[in-house]
Amino acid sequence: MKKIIFFEATEKEKNILQKYPDFFNLVDFSEEKLTHKNAGEFKDYEIISVFIGSQLSQQVLSQLNNLKFIATRSTGFDHIDLDYCKENGISVSSVPNYGDHTVAEYTFALLLCLIRKVYNAYHQVRETGSFSLEGLQGEELFNKTLGVIGTGKIGREVIKIAKGFSMKVIAYDKYPQEDLAEELEFEYFNLEDLLAQSDVISLHVPYTEETHHLINKDNILKIKPGAYIINTSRGGVIETDALYQALKKNHLAGAALDVLEEEGDLKEEQRMLAEKQDITTEKLKTLLANHIFIDLDNVIISPHNAFNTKEALENILITTMENINGYLNNELKNLI
Ligand code: NAI
Repeated sequence: MKKIIFFEATEKEKNILQKYPDFFNLVDFSEEKLTHKNAGEFKDYEIISVFIGSQLSQQVLSQLNNLKFIATRSTGFDHIDLDYCKENGISVSSVPNYGDHTVAEYTFALLLCLIRKVYNAYHQVRETGSFSLEGLQGEELFNKTLGVIGTGKIGREVIKIAKGFSMKVIAYDKYPQEDLAEELEFEYFNLEDLLAQSDVISLHVPYTEETHHLINKDNILKIKPGAYIINTSRGGVIETDALYQALKKNHLAGAALDVLEEEGDLKEEQRMLAEKQDITTEKLKTLLANHIFIDLDNVIISPHNAFNTKEALENILITTMENINGYLNNELKNLI
């Protein structure tokens, strides 16, 4: 029996990995997510690779008796119970750097789509055949202030692109890098000042206990009225209900969200409701707000798609192979 299995494996991924037969032949593939319901079937595997749809909680991991190594095919690792892994001698590696350009470019795809009403225009022409400009006026990015929250690998690519639009850039980061600020010509602010001064806010922080609801009901109204917010980081960085209220009050002009709080549940909700699983009121409220977002004209939602380019997928798989080969050769790489 093989000792490596890839979960959430797509045909595209398999086609790429087939170019590396020595590795491909070592691996089993499952299209399924790894969950507490199916984990028992996979208890013999020593190495697993997952994407972000598999929530690797203690309940899941404790069923995998032989597990020694997890290679997540993502940058973020908030879907893995790292404490449990540490206590149980399971090493975890991620893909720290596969598509900074990919995600930064998508951030601007969302921003331009939102601020220039590209989708509304396209939808109008396609659905009604109307070439009226009524309701389609947008705003320029030129000379606007972009507030970047998180100036890591993706945030800094976003800053470079913003400069191409002649935007003024300000930033907030827990660990400001003054040399980077000098090189890319932006200024660090505290969070409150960034919120008050930005015309567009773009989020690029990891999802941690500290960044949970970084934008929340206590600070969302401190955002400059009429500003736009773009989230390609993780849904939980914004308190969904606070965002919904700010949009409803027209305090914000719009939002573009590649990630949603409880996005996993959103995809799974029919099953959850059918099986009458326990859903907390908070979760239900978030799911409901996410649904209402989908219907708002000034909100663009995409299905966690920012990473999804040809180049990035190939980079993810190459690094994942290197991570797994590193484990097999006792040279662990990209450990979390
Ligand atoms: P990175 O680790 O290079 O940068 C993160 C930055 O956030 C760092 O500068 C760090 O100092 C800062 N930071 C960390 N905690 C903070 C806090 N509490 N307050 C303020 N700043 C804080 O990460 P990278 O590669 O730029 O990615 C950022 C996030 O983007 C990932 O963690 C992931 O969740 C998300 N992502 C989303 C994708 C998508 O498809 N939508 C694809 C790839 C990443």
